[in-house]
Amino acid sequence: MAPAGGGAAPGGALGGHVGRTRWLDTLTEAAAEAMPAPVRAYVEAGALEQVSLAEANAAWQRYRLAPHVLRDVTEVDTGTTVLGHRLATPIAVAPTAMQRAVHPQGERAMAAGAAAAGALHVVSSHAGFAWAEIDAGGPWWVQLYLTPDRSEVDDGVRAAVAAGASAVVLTVDTPVPGQKYAVSDLDWTGVDLSWHRTNFPPNDAHWAADLTPADIGRLAEVAGVPVVVKGVLRADDARRCVAAGAAAIWVSNHGGRQLDRSLPTALALPAVVSAVGGEAPVFVDGGIRSGLDALVALALGADAVFVGRPALRALAVAGEDGVRRLLTDLTTELVDAMRLSGAAGLASCRGLLAPA
Ligand code: FNR
Repeated sequence: MAPAGGGAAPGGALGGHVGRTRWLDTLTEAAAEAMPAPVRAYVEAGALEQVSLAEANAAWQRYRLAPHVLRDVTEVDTGTTVLGHRLATPIAVAPTAMQRAVHPQGERAMAAGAAAAGALHVVSSHAGFAWAEIDAGGPWWVQLYLTPDRSEVDDGVRAAVAAGASAVVLTVDTPVPGQKYAVSDLDWTGVDLSWHRTNFPPNDAHWAADLTPADIGRLAEVAGVPVVVKGVLRADDARRCVAAGAAAIWVSNHGGRQLDRSLPTALALPAVVSAVGGEAPVFVDGGIRSGLDALVALALGADAVFVGRPALRALAVAGEDGVRRLLTDLTTELVDAMRLSGAAGLASCRGLLAPA
């Protein structure tokens, strides 16, 4: 059922309700129609029995908020600074492969939509356009998988940084690609994948299975920009990453596409925040589908939240405009939720969780 709209409160850069029909609720179905069958299956898949995929959003919904009253929320500011970037919103785009199969403008449209919303955008190492073609003027980071021979990707990383990537996101949850039965026998006939992984030497998903914290320091030296470690679910691992030079920790189970039955990120986040939150920013993704989900993540101590599949669906449905609308609608929902919580800025979101 669509939530009631109207009654927009004044103030706030993006304030006001998003409308009578929640466009975000129409995205999955509309995107399914817009994408070729194998692309849709690839985007929506989770690993094995898809338990982690199924649990991701529900885990955010289980938390309860204890809102403040008697606070001035005429102006609500979702602005934040993340690794030196001033952003209009803490809601950002996670790296995803196959964007050119989802929409002809692929990463270019994703980057432009994110920039238009004042949001950060992370480009997958499998991107279908050359780095320099993707830059839309907004801040962006490059995501990386390391290969058994580490030096194979060095040139691609340096080229990304030269093209404007201001951080490297090292994905560490993929010693092997998780088995996804929904995609193992797909017929890709009719989908041109010649552009896949344009910026790096070809690789049949043979990733390094021997990563150590030392890879973080090496990568930071090669790249000359901060290294964010993506795919951490444990406090002890988060501490090892920060001790090894990680500039930020990204709590993720890869959208339920790697180890099935890994814990929901909503449950992993608090321990990681208490382990490293004072020393390094903590980001999170996985099942974030509304401004309320984002508020819960911020209340738990996240410094930014990322969306994967919703951004691909929005890209499929309406290209650059779709991505911009996704991010502004989610941010508008966040503004509404913050206003109702008595939080005029992101710092006030901490401490909003009701005691368990
Ligand atoms: C991904 N993800 C991903 N992560 C990464 O580090 N490099 C990549 O190339 C990809 N590719 C990719 C493709 C597709 C189709 C999906 C759905 C996901 C994982 C992604 O960055 C993110 O962690 C999850 O998508 C977040 O979960 P939600 O928002 O999709 O629930």
